Amino acid sequence: MLERLARPLAGISNALAGAVDRFYRILGRPGKFFQDFLNGAWLGHSVHPVLTDVVVGGGLVAILFVILGSFGVTGLEDAIDWTLLLTWLAAVATIATGLTDYKDTAIGNERNIAGAHGMINIVASIGLFKAWLVYLAEPGWLGPTLLIGSYLLLSLGAFVGGHLVFKYGYMVNFHAFGGERRVRDFAPVLPVAELAPDTPTRVALGPTNLFVVRRGDLVYALADTCSHAGGPLSKGAVVGDTIVCPWHGSAFRMADGAVRHGPATSRQVSYAARIHEGQVEVQGPRGVSR
Ligand code: FES
Repeated sequence: MLERLARPLAGISNALAGAVDRFYRILGRPGKFFQDFLNGAWLGHSVHPVLTDVVVGGGLVAILFVILGSFGVTGLEDAIDWTLLLTWLAAVATIATGLTDYKDTAIGNERNIAGAHGMINIVASIGLFKAWLVYLAEPGWLGPTLLIGSYLLLSLGAFVGGHLVFKYGYMVNFHAFGGERRVRDFAPVLPVAELAPDTPTRVALGPTNLFVVRRGDLVYALADTCSHAGGPLSKGAVVGDTIVCPWHGSAFRMADGAVRHGPATSRQVSYAARIHEGQVEVQGPRGVSR
């Protein structure tokens, strides 16, 4: 049902994602670092859900103060003002992180649902701001009405956001279920003569596709499927010591799969790799990969 309801928003959802993408492109390299900060590349998972907890919790605390006030508890006015201000500031940060994640959603149901989630929460955040202004100016029925109405809207937005994560798995590590083939001893995957230098190449390790690249005497091997949303790293570009995903530009260090740039926030699954008796051999996966 949510998919059906969100479908008419496709036009505005795509336009919004395009506008956010252009905004970051115009900012250039600083924009890339700003995007990394808001995505959560530094944190190891998305920042957005961390902030949503502050908004939902803050709104609930403000409502609790209002209920206590209606039972005759006095002296809560300042607490309500400050709680609403904190909640609204967290809502602004949540919108910024959400829009940054949103621009890389897949066109179709995933983006439409994400668009509906964002629009509901933007309206709810405007309502929270208005409630804060009303509470600052005057006591009365308008403040509680705006607060409770905005909170209900916020809860609906949170439900739709949960649908996006649990049904579509957006911003969930693509390797979360650890389906990659494990090899205890080094196993050959390709004759080294078939691996052109500095050329991302896809090879099969049983059912798992790997991306391998040769640089001088060294070879690197990562899972081919990007941890962000499943893009093929073997179709990406080698830039410095990283491989850049062709879908949304996440950059992973080839030596160990560490995230250098988002939107990916999870380390790419990596394998030990070597050249041995004319073969490229891999072993792993190694280390903590999820
Ligand atoms: S799939 Fe999104 S950056 Fe790779």
